[in-house]
Amino acid sequence: MSKTIIVSNRLPISLQHKNGKFEFKPSAGGLATGLGSIYKEGENIWIGWPGNDVEDEGQRKEVVDELKKLKMAPVFLTKKDVELYYEGFSNETIWPAFHYFTQHINYEDEYWDAYWNVNKKFCDAILAKASDSDTIWVHDYQLLLLPMMLREKLPNATIAFFQHIPFPSYEIMRMLPWRKQMLEGMVGADLIGFHTYDDMRHFLSAVGRILGLSNESGFIQADNRLVNVDAFPMGIDYEKFEKAALSPKTKNHVKKFKQTLGDQKLLITIDRLDYSKGIPNRIKVFEKLLDENPKYRGKVSMIMVVVPSRDQVQSYQTLKEEIDTLVGHINSKFSTLNWVPIHYFYRSFPFNELSAFYSMSDIALVTPLRDGMNLVCKEFVASKTDKKGVLILSEMAGASKELVDAILVNPNDQEGVTSAIVEALSMDEEEQELRITSMQASLKKYDIFQWVKVFMDRLQFVKEKQADLESK
Ligand code: G6P
Repeated sequence: MSKTIIVSNRLPISLQHKNGKFEFKPSAGGLATGLGSIYKEGENIWIGWPGNDVEDEGQRKEVVDELKKLKMAPVFLTKKDVELYYEGFSNETIWPAFHYFTQHINYEDEYWDAYWNVNKKFCDAILAKASDSDTIWVHDYQLLLLPMMLREKLPNATIAFFQHIPFPSYEIMRMLPWRKQMLEGMVGADLIGFHTYDDMRHFLSAVGRILGLSNESGFIQADNRLVNVDAFPMGIDYEKFEKAALSPKTKNHVKKFKQTLGDQKLLITIDRLDYSKGIPNRIKVFEKLLDENPKYRGKVSMIMVVVPSRDQVQSYQTLKEEIDTLVGHINSKFSTLNWVPIHYFYRSFPFNELSAFYSMSDIALVTPLRDGMNLVCKEFVASKTDKKGVLILSEMAGASKELVDAILVNPNDQEGVTSAIVEALSMDEEEQELRITSMQASLKKYDIFQWVKVFMDRLQFVKEKQADLESK
């Protein structure tokens, strides 16, 4: 019996130490939900890093046993692996390069070596479970080398790769000394997916210019193996957000929060702490809005949730300090005893409180400088069960290709984003409804379950096409 193995850097849980023991916190992310329909079936399994260090051999065995019950298998990373592979090559080399933040790229051979070694560690962990007739779906930029490593050992396996972050233009790709090995690693897969057409186009151009492999309508001939490359925009668990917004739990939170905040217009912004999200730009735009429109002071405020992330990486620490300073600046400049411009939270929130933030906010300001997809904007739209609300969305987010009924902005254009907020604040309800309804219709149709299905169907199609060609 063949099985399907999902692989990602992180498992859809996080392992946490508590009083000398450990516990597993499930991840509520959309991807985990969408892939639940796969890895929880039969002999299928999800392989990845449990997100924390387990040094003791006895405890490791316990973790393996516990995870087995959840249909998962761990790849343990040492402190050095985390420092050089995860924080290092993944998040100080690939992440900034692929998001066009070339000033943040660290080029370290030591990082590259660790990246190769940890990809190999993942490969070995998979080989301990996989056979040549299995399907292996590898996720994201931390594991670019894995498809080819697997292909060398399991030549007939069905291997897929999906990249959740942008793929940059050839001009960026060629800056990386390890560009050739990275691309070769990816083409070990039978199917390579990106969120947008542009990412796919950039990848095909890099593969053409760096590996000398041409493509025909997204099909590459690599080592006599057909590899398909295409765009598969990821959706959300629409129903979950819609249901949550209508639930008594969320409604209670809304009531409570509104009592505290009073009658004012609310803007919501939610991001992981990351320089790609453009958080400082957004704060500066909000200051400009209040500077130029005194009528909004005391009447409009912003709820800004920043979720801690990668806090051992220097560029993230510097960003945190910059945000703290900017929020302090604007709040000290405009606050009154009963109003603050920005309600700033540096932490994550329970699901129903987030749902309440989405439901009660009039405007979502989603203005990343670069983003593979961005699911926050989709979650906001799905939560608007009364059809009222306006989404302001960056053209640089993958989601902008689908959510064309948002007010689309260039996040670097301070004047443009400020005008978009003014436009949103004065948009009549009829127009809000038209825009939200149209976006909801497409999000409902192309939800996370549909995304998984379309991707898996394509994978099967590619395998059939390969078999067809071989038999000729
Ligand atoms: C992005 C990446 C994911 C990553 C997530 C959180 O969405 O595409 O691969 O897991 O950020 O980042 P972290 O470094 O905490 O895993």
